[in-house]
Amino acid sequence: MTLLNVSSLHKHFGGLHAVNDVSFGVETGAIKAVIGPNGAGKTTLFNLITGTLGATAGKVRFRGEDIQGRRPHQIAAAGIARTFQNIKLFHDMTALENVMVGRHLRSRAGFAASMLNLPWTRKEEQKIRDKSMELLDLLEIADHADVEATSLAFGQQRAVEFARALALEPRLLLLDEPAAGLNIYETAEVGRLITKIRGLGITVLLVEHDMSLVMDISDEIVVLSFGEKIAEGVPTAIQNNPEVIKVYLGE
Ligand SMILES: Nc1ncnc2c1ncn2[C@@H]1O[C@H](COP(=O)(O)OP(=O)(O)O)[C@@H](O)[C@H]1O
Ligand SMILES: [Mg+2]
Repeated sequence: MTLLNVSSLHKHFGGLHAVNDVSFGVETGAIKAVIGPNGAGKTTLFNLITGTLGATAGKVRFRGEDIQGRRPHQIAAAGIARTFQNIKLFHDMTALENVMVGRHLRSRAGFAASMLNLPWTRKEEQKIRDKSMELLDLLEIADHADVEATSLAFGQQRAVEFARALALEPRLLLLDEPAAGLNIYETAEVGRLITKIRGLGITVLLVEHDMSLVMDISDEIVVLSFGEKIAEGVPTAIQNNPEVIKVYLGE
């Protein structure tokens, strides 16, 4: 089954066609990668899918529903979570608190009610704390729950970001360059965590520059160049695609 379907998507910034007639689907349970040189339109594509940007033309369907034009929080509530190219964790908050923020967005009480500290929200707060600890445990950083998140190593910060995104209980997780700034060991760990997340039944759409990671964990790859899709297929086919090789050698 196709979970996400992007069809004839366009985003123009003035005369610049950042995303130009891009179409592809993401199958439920897959890890799909979007690759391409800097400026190819990968982050813009993510911003269109998550509602941060409005498309110039085209459609985004999620679970068969047209979500193009919905607000970011509506799209998150529908089941699409993301992480950012530059890690965006809250300063002066522990790893656990960062994940709890993600969970609050999901919970019945929400921030305002929990501020009032009503008895039933206190119970809710404990549930949020427990669930957030579970997620830190899943991402193998529970030992660092009480450490200020931004003081952790980059690889660990990525894991906290993953946990915070998973707190929304998404069906689809968008990861924008999760290995950016990581060393080879941390990159391998992040790859393992992404595969573990997929093992939970969560579909993953991944933008990534690290080709060994992409080739290792992806079921399928879409290649963008100057806003256009120039190739799509399984990793071995993409590796041997002459046009893809040309684009990368030219970078
Ligand atoms: N908000 C914006 N306004 C104007 N141009 C933008 C904006 N966001 C991205 N661009 C341009 O769109 C192109 C694609 O950018 P981006 O999606 O960030 O590429 P990638 O993530 O593949 O490196 C680039 O030329 C970039 O400068
Ligand atoms: Mg980008």
